[in-house]
Amino acid sequence: MSYGLLKGKKGIIFGALDPNSIAWHVAEKAHEEGAQFVLTNAPIALRMGKINELAEKCGATLIGADATNNEDLEKLFTQSMEVMGGKVDFVLHSIGMSPNVRKGKHYTGVDYDFYHKTLDISAMSLHRTLAAAHKLDAISDWGSVVALTYIAAQRVFPDYNDMADAKALLESITRSFGYHLGVQKKIRVNTISQSPTKTTAGTGVKGFDSFFDYADMMSPLGNADAGACADYVVSLFSDLTRYVTMQNLFHDGGFSFTGVSQALVDRFSQQQEG
Ligand SMILES: NC(=O)c1ccc[n+]([C@@H]2O[C@H](COP(=O)([O-])OP(=O)(O)OC[C@H]3O[C@@H](n4cnc5c(N)ncnc54)[C@H](O)[C@@H]3O)[C@@H](O)[C@H]2O)c1
Repeated sequence: MSYGLLKGKKGIIFGALDPNSIAWHVAEKAHEEGAQFVLTNAPIALRMGKINELAEKCGATLIGADATNNEDLEKLFTQSMEVMGGKVDFVLHSIGMSPNVRKGKHYTGVDYDFYHKTLDISAMSLHRTLAAAHKLDAISDWGSVVALTYIAAQRVFPDYNDMADAKALLESITRSFGYHLGVQKKIRVNTISQSPTKTTAGTGVKGFDSFFDYADMMSPLGNADAGACADYVVSLFSDLTRYVTMQNLFHDGGFSFTGVSQALVDRFSQQQEG
């Protein structure tokens, strides 16, 4: 069901890789809600081809940009404004990658070149994106920027590795840049802290499947899926949330505020009895 929440709005969506990607779901919902947008991803991800199908379905233009490259990001904003005929109203940052996680390095013995890459790709890329937009005055007044994060920024999840540090930085950039963009342009910047979700980035984390089931059991509403996350993102892009900024918003079925659930207690009791 469409509410026309994004009718007349223009945006840029980073990070749709395949139909499992959270950004893919956001693009589908934003299209349903009447938005016009540019889809972007790292040039290598564009070459893999699937994003073309999404662009066609949504009538979106595809523009490649490495989110760790300032020139690419400036070109992205300049070309997006040309293609769409004006400033953008919303930006989704849905980017994450850790070479340490990929190569199975333990947190206590990370490779520091990899660590730099993790922080640059997964967190500083938000700063670079906002800085490019700021320099080019590319986001409309009352525009909305959303980045995706995970609760490992606040609590320890051992196998999340250096991505936990990247998410803490991402959330801090959200507050710091959110302040300046708020004062200068009434632009809002928020993070959504999402449940574990079965995507390429998500399932790359060691022990993901068991952890997914654990989080599902802990959350009073169960894990939030990518489609529900997309609904929440769209609400933050809409005019209904104009005064929400600099926040980390948990979208996790209640996981973040649950100490322990009865379902988990019962499970442990069964194990002890059996
Ligand atoms: N899947 C989960 O369990 C989960 C939970 C909470 C938060 N998140 C966050 O959601 C966001 C999206 O991840 P996802 O789960 O949809 O996985 P995904 O793998 O589908 O998306 C990650 C995206 O980052 C892009 N990317 C990587 N390096 C890039 C670069 N240099 N420049 C531009 N783009 C680059 C990839 O091409 C890909 O499209 C990430 O920030 C992730 O940390 C995911």
